[in-house]
Amino acid sequence: MKKKKILLAFGTRPEAIKMAPLALALEKMGDRFETRICLTAQHREMLDQVMDFFDLKPHYDLNLMKPGQNLYALTAAIITGMKPVLEDFKPDYVLVHGDTTTSMAAAVAAFYAGCKIGHVEAGLRTFNKWAPFPEEMNRSLTGKLSDVHFAPTTTSKNNLCNENIAEEQIIVTGNTVIDALNIGLDIVEKKDLSSIKLLNKKFLFDKPMILVTGHRRENHGEGFLHICAALKQIAQNEYVDIIYPVHLNPNVQKPVYDMLSGIENIHLITPQPYEAFIWLMNKASIIITDSGGVQEEAPSLGKPVLVMRDTTERPEAVEAGTVILVGTDTDTIVRETIDLLHNKDRYHKMASVHNPYGDGKACERIVQYLLDANNESNSTH
Ligand code: UD1
Ligand code: UDP
Repeated sequence: MKKKKILLAFGTRPEAIKMAPLALALEKMGDRFETRICLTAQHREMLDQVMDFFDLKPHYDLNLMKPGQNLYALTAAIITGMKPVLEDFKPDYVLVHGDTTTSMAAAVAAFYAGCKIGHVEAGLRTFNKWAPFPEEMNRSLTGKLSDVHFAPTTTSKNNLCNENIAEEQIIVTGNTVIDALNIGLDIVEKKDLSSIKLLNKKFLFDKPMILVTGHRRENHGEGFLHICAALKQIAQNEYVDIIYPVHLNPNVQKPVYDMLSGIENIHLITPQPYEAFIWLMNKASIIITDSGGVQEEAPSLGKPVLVMRDTTERPEAVEAGTVILVGTDTDTIVRETIDLLHNKDRYHKMASVHNPYGDGKACERIVQYLLDANNESNSTH
């Protein structure tokens, strides 16, 4: 039987985390699939950390990241860079993930090459073109180009149905982030990992710990100034520790290090390898973040999350009660954090919610679809 040729194209940390279990599942079935990974390397160090942890090797690496890169040049470079890859491998399916510039531009390139496109984590919407920016449009445009939509929840499936996408083109799979988390937690439990040993050496973990991450473009500027002001106020309570792995985007690094360096109970650290970050999430009392992936992982670990955004394309955890949207207003972030630290009833209600994002079998469902799918090419290319 002719093997199906599958190209996974991704480029940032969260895409890598969420595509890694799928790449591993496809690579395991070498008798049915010829699988290749193309990294755009929109991220570099933060992407390589994930590739190393999951022991994945790329077949193509466009190595595109530039310090302080802009959306125009990055988009053009991805589309242009994908051309020789697609001409060399001639995949039956190109799988892209989520809502980054890599997802959208790789989907455009795959469309130009006449390949079928599978969109993993499809159908999330805020219905606000400007938030998250540019992710809402990246995800919508990728959906428009895709032949099959792997929707994580029924809410995301319904969003796609409302855009007149045929039901048979949508598979509800759960989110592959839970597959990744299960693999990660298992390894953390079994192995004596150096990244975790380092954290154990550096911190005492003798006080309630608040874990912080943030990077959204719409929070750059004013938003980050308000967020840092809030963290500074929270840190005036000496009974808490704040650990903040700071994203490498210069628009994040500058305000965070300018405003929060030198405060005794605020610990600014480099972005953590995935295994160390999920270990830290487990150690945290509360997580304050604007990250998409962290919102999805935290309910599995029983951690309340304050999300520094006004709107979210992930309403499920808000509805379930484990996530509260606090925006970037300084007073609101401080008030909600202090309340959660003191109000035990509210804390336990938020911490004991069932994860709405899946059962850890999302990759199995995607692989099954690809096994069953017919192999006909999309076009006459
Ligand atoms: C990108 C995605 C965003 C995703 C986020 C995950 C877009 C437009 N943005 O945002 O959707 O949620 O990744 O983290 O697709 N940098 C490094 N090393 C790295 C990574 C980044 O130095 O490993 C620095 C570089 O200066 C780079 C800058 O960060 O130019 C911005 O990276 P970019 O991918 O454009 O934006 P992010 O804010 O990371
Ligand atoms: N993460 C990580 N190290 C860190 C911070 C986050 O490995 O120092 C992981 C986290 O577990 C989650 C993902 O990165 O799976 C989220 O990535 P990010 O917040 O950069 O992007 P988003 O999910 O918002 O697109």
